[in-house]
Amino acid sequence: MDDAAEGYRSALASHYPGPASITYAGKAFLCKGIAQWTCRQNLWVDCTGEGEIAIALAGGVTREHILVHGVNKSTADLDSAIRHAGTLVVDNLTELHRLAGLFPASSSGFPNLWLRLLPGLAVQTHHTHTQTGQHDSKFGMTRTEMIEAALFCKKNNLPLKGIHFHQGSNFHDAGPLKAAIDLGLDLAKEIGLGKDWGFSPGGGWGVAYHEDELPQPDTKEYIRVITENVIEGCQARGLPMPHLHLEPGRSLVARAGVAIYKVGTVKRRGDKIWVLTDGGMTDNPRHAMYGARYSCLPVSGVGREGSEQVSIAGPYCESGDVVIEDLLMPKLDEGELLAIPASGAYHLSMSSNYNGSRRPAVLWLEQGEEARIMIRRETIDDLLKRDSVQ
Ligand SMILES: Cc1ncc(COP(=O)(O)O)c(C=O)c1O
Repeated sequence: MDDAAEGYRSALASHYPGPASITYAGKAFLCKGIAQWTCRQNLWVDCTGEGEIAIALAGGVTREHILVHGVNKSTADLDSAIRHAGTLVVDNLTELHRLAGLFPASSSGFPNLWLRLLPGLAVQTHHTHTQTGQHDSKFGMTRTEMIEAALFCKKNNLPLKGIHFHQGSNFHDAGPLKAAIDLGLDLAKEIGLGKDWGFSPGGGWGVAYHEDELPQPDTKEYIRVITENVIEGCQARGLPMPHLHLEPGRSLVARAGVAIYKVGTVKRRGDKIWVLTDGGMTDNPRHAMYGARYSCLPVSGVGREGSEQVSIAGPYCESGDVVIEDLLMPKLDEGELLAIPASGAYHLSMSSNYNGSRRPAVLWLEQGEEARIMIRRETIDDLLKRDSVQ
């Protein structure tokens, strides 16, 4: 994680002459330990709503570093953002109208507002469920809505300071960002955001989950494409250079996470070999949701030769409770441990208690230090905590 953050910082420093910040997308995985890590790294934190704001605050993230997203924010989300965030990204006109009602006449401490553009252009991801920028997406505002929103902000003295878009998650080719950056800069010119304005082409830069996706997507190349287009685009339009914000989640934390499962039993069904483990879709729903691919290693004897194609599935009552399909593995024994790399993003943040499962513990490992428990394992008491029936 430290190296990934440093990769972003150094690429920005060598490619962008203006001010720039990195915002960690908390939706990838947020807990107090990760929030504290963002403070040590001087990152902003993108919080989706009141819950993630509360976790960020508990981890010591300061107001100026809290940025709030959300496609249909509740009143509680907006109240929390107004009290605690430095920046609020407005998703739609209804939200903006509600915000105007909450904006006190002589406000101090109201967050800066950015408008979320729907560019109508998606990046290439492995599944449509991870695209957000296409013309019929539920996220953000069309060009016409953006202009209406900007006029509304001016009329109501709302502190409009920036433009954001996010085209999708886990893309490996930065090329399609150019057209969306151009649209964003066109709008910035038309709206007129003044000298100190923020511009965020979102996050979504990918990682390799499987050996056949290597080499790892190059963060430097991603940042080169963004900065080159922002710099040239601003020059061509006579715009001042914006404060450039990048919003990575996965590319900062995915590779830091390793999920450990224990093999319970192995079932042979015709050509199919099922390796059944003690975890699955409740701690990592990504394969069940959109067919995400992974690789896997046996913890003992990492170098053992692969001998058969297996599918790795969990103990839950769904045939879709599968983590990996058809991967070449050595012959596996009951009771042995498996390690799935690149498990740090969008696993536990999308986890559930299906079948009364309890979320696993999360350990923080740092070279040369003893492992620390970052989150303890859930208990039966946790399962019953919200149950209000006597
Ligand atoms: C608005 C926004 N910003 C940033 C991200 C981070 O994406 P990733 O974790 O793929 O970098 C997301 C993810 O969906 C997002 O919706």
